[in-house]
Amino acid sequence: MIRLTINGKTMALDVDPNTPLLWAIREQAGLTGTKYGCGVAQCGACTVHVDGQAMRSCALPVSAAVGKKITTIEGLAQGGKLTRVQQAWIANEVPQCGYCQSGMIMAVEALLKQKPNPTDADINAAITNICRCGTFQQVREAIHAAAKA
Ligand code: FES
Ligand code: FES
Repeated sequence: MIRLTINGKTMALDVDPNTPLLWAIREQAGLTGTKYGCGVAQCGACTVHVDGQAMRSCALPVSAAVGKKITTIEGLAQGGKLTRVQQAWIANEVPQCGYCQSGMIMAVEALLKQKPNPTDADINAAITNICRCGTFQQVREAIHAAAKA
């Protein structure tokens, strides 16, 4: 058994320590907002926070997340209140198919914690998530809107 703390809840999961965190989150914890895209740490669809850092959960074994605070897209809103990033996403109509968007939002939340008012260069450097629908311009606008909120 592996004990993980996800969105403030500690749970014992019956997984091999080498299992990618993504699959423990989706299949064991049942939190399917975190998506599988490439499986090789390239696309960012699987991004979650581990102790506040954006991490690609497809490439992180669960053993590396033991004793750390894991946050998924389901754990962002507190008391039903969306974060300023989530609100900016809605206001700027960012998502198209939506598949990449939970990972995108998790990466952006982590960026704004480190850099509350990022430049376009900061965004380019930090947000390397891939969106097959090409929402990059809306993502950029929503990041700037969230930074000003
Ligand atoms: S599924 Fe993890 S980076 Fe693509
Ligand atoms: S919104 Fe469709 S892949 Fe990004």
